[in-house]
Amino acid sequence: MREQVIILDFGSQYTQVIARRIRECKVYSTILKYDTPAAEIAALQPKGIILSGGPESVYSRKAPLPDRKIFELGVPILGICYGLQLMAKYLKGKVEPGQKREYGKGMLKVKSSACALFKKLPRELQVWNSHGDKLTRLPAGFKTAAVTENSPYAAIENRKLKFFGLQFHPEVAHTPRGKTIIQNFVHQVCGCGRKWTMRSYIDQAVDDIRTQVGDEHVILGLSGGVDSSVAAALLHRAIGNQLTCIFVNNGVLRAHEAEVVQEVFGRNFKIKLIYEEATDQFLKKLKGVTDPETKRKRIGKTFIDVFQAATKRAGKAKFLAQGTLYPDVIESVPIAGNPAALIKSHHNVGGLPKNMKFKLVEPLRCLFKDEVRLLGKELGLPDEIVWRQPFPGPGLAVRVLGEVTRERLEILRNADRIVVETMKNEGWYYKVWQSFAVLLPVRSVGVMGDERTYDYTIAVRAVESQDGMTADWVKLPHGILETLSSRIINEVQGVNRVCLDISSKPPATIEWE
Ligand code: XMP
Repeated sequence: MREQVIILDFGSQYTQVIARRIRECKVYSTILKYDTPAAEIAALQPKGIILSGGPESVYSRKAPLPDRKIFELGVPILGICYGLQLMAKYLKGKVEPGQKREYGKGMLKVKSSACALFKKLPRELQVWNSHGDKLTRLPAGFKTAAVTENSPYAAIENRKLKFFGLQFHPEVAHTPRGKTIIQNFVHQVCGCGRKWTMRSYIDQAVDDIRTQVGDEHVILGLSGGVDSSVAAALLHRAIGNQLTCIFVNNGVLRAHEAEVVQEVFGRNFKIKLIYEEATDQFLKKLKGVTDPETKRKRIGKTFIDVFQAATKRAGKAKFLAQGTLYPDVIESVPIAGNPAALIKSHHNVGGLPKNMKFKLVEPLRCLFKDEVRLLGKELGLPDEIVWRQPFPGPGLAVRVLGEVTRERLEILRNADRIVVETMKNEGWYYKVWQSFAVLLPVRSVGVMGDERTYDYTIAVRAVESQDGMTADWVKLPHGILETLSSRIINEVQGVNRVCLDISSKPPATIEWE
């Protein structure tokens, strides 16, 4: 039987973050619904059980409650926040509504350094709280292991039963040493080894995909971005020729984009790839359009038309695969800085019309971006794809300000290629969130040789960011700026001036449109 930890989900927005932390410990975990019968859990022979947090009060009529027999399985249990309160409810402790909600940073003082959860940790730790109710009487057989200013029971333990409760959230980034607390639970208390790897994730995902899909066919819209590329490689590993990818050339791609995708997926991976050359169709729809929102809408609509037509040609498929990640799935963005707070507002999921009657396959649904990159590496995707910078769905159209014409696109594509090349050559491409060129709709006077010029301006934009929500402009070394400026002006016909965008987000955005 595979070593695993079971997470019972009581509705916390951080349940997937707990699972991620356990994966980081190289241990397999399964998230189960809160009321999974204890016998079912026992059959899985878990090494430990974690009770997640949740939005309810344990005494509310709507409170999600576990099978009480889970406390009799002889398996170590860690209750987090609501999970701790459940332990109190079932094990003769007491929970009461707090005077005020405790929310935000707190200082934890470890009282019992013998407590296994705090092994190798200092006596004072910064922790993150988010709870209304609080424990007012310890459950039977429990002792206090740590306190905060507001709570004499911030961490509790019953060493004999190996039951632990934490009032704070060890899984979030705002509890900086929380990872070690979870590691301690998983390795020291539950005795799990470090056997689980991305390779085991692939085996599991392959099994799951095969079970879901059976003999049916699957279609996937491949954009060349990290998520859809990794999803394609994983699905291909699972179902080979039952997968057909559709790549749409919308005419606003970066230089070499279409070739790279065809090379990597068509020739290397031998994935069935339908290449839709739709440049003319897109550019026709963009003719005369200068308003940014109209551009985006027209591109989105045209994409659907082209994609839909291509699916018909792909043959009968029952499933549509998407590279949806966990952060795209969550409904709300929780704590800033927490990994759950990645981009979602711009994401292209849900963009397909309802009349396309596919069932969805989303094999990356519970992973975070950095895990998807690791998975991509493990599946043999080249760094060029795995580590690529984000690129917006509407592509270069939102970086050609004003009307998108073939001539302007060509100018921008050339300048952008130089930005990418230079950043890569100088070792900066992978250090920043995004770096690219923007074509401004103004012309200015210059002089080249003996001739007067009247040409376009390119703005160089390089930003660092954790999640695309906020961003800071990158202080690139002057040497790189010099190379960028001289190469763009010398090599790109139609440009005689280069500027650097030194605005942060907010109040600017990363893209110019
Ligand atoms: P902004 O410009 O809003 O962009 O600061 C934040 C991040 O989102 C990317 N972006 C998009 N991604 N479809 C996408 O998939 C889009 O329509 C889109 N618009 C912006 C942008 O490149 C940045 O990383």
